[in-house]
Amino acid sequence: MVEVRYGSGGDAEGPTFGGLDSLRDHIGDCQRCSLALTRTTLVFGVGDPHARLMFVGEAPGRNEDLKGEPFVGAAGKLLDGLLEGIGLARSEVYIANVLKCRPPGNRDPLTEEIETCTPFLTEQIRLIAPSVIGTLGNFATRYVLGTDLPISAVRGRLFRIGGQRVVPVFHPAAALYDRTKHNVLVDDFKRLRSVLDSAAVSDADSGGAADTDFGGDQPSLF
Ligand code: URA
Repeated sequence: MVEVRYGSGGDAEGPTFGGLDSLRDHIGDCQRCSLALTRTTLVFGVGDPHARLMFVGEAPGRNEDLKGEPFVGAAGKLLDGLLEGIGLARSEVYIANVLKCRPPGNRDPLTEEIETCTPFLTEQIRLIAPSVIGTLGNFATRYVLGTDLPISAVRGRLFRIGGQRVVPVFHPAAALYDRTKHNVLVDDFKRLRSVLDSAAVSDADSGGAADTDFGGDQPSLF
């Protein structure tokens, strides 16, 4: 397992909140960046506020923007299926994104948008305090791990940030039309499941000693 520190906004200073509802109230009808001009609905996050497993995606797409919930389109259906495959329902995990508003035309998030929005994600992670975070794709992985490495270099491996274990996986959208990536995702979700199971054991007694590192050379950055 690799010890890393939080990403660029992971240790951002700012107000802390007593719960997700007060954080959501604080965000309000957010006008902090120009995505406010084009979004329909701010997508805060969904799921169990005490989830042991939290997923971080990139940003809402068209369906999410309309519905106000993360991962409700085709990638969301795939995510639901992957969760089902490891015996979990969407209601048992928490799902949020790096950005809370849809970039027009689903373009990549801009640096300033990430800097403006991620203190809220960091606060969600602090409040939920999941044992395990699954980062979905490049943007979530780069933010949470504070790395520039591509997802392909780190996927399926176990990192530790403070009290949290982080397992980067491909973004489900990338696997929608690529069978190879889909099979890798299925494998990586099995790994997520086993990290979750071993976290339950180690959190209960040994403070992390029971965790498994999923092999390979560690990137020199870490
Ligand atoms: N892709 C994401 O990264 N997040 C969503 O909520 C939907 C699609």
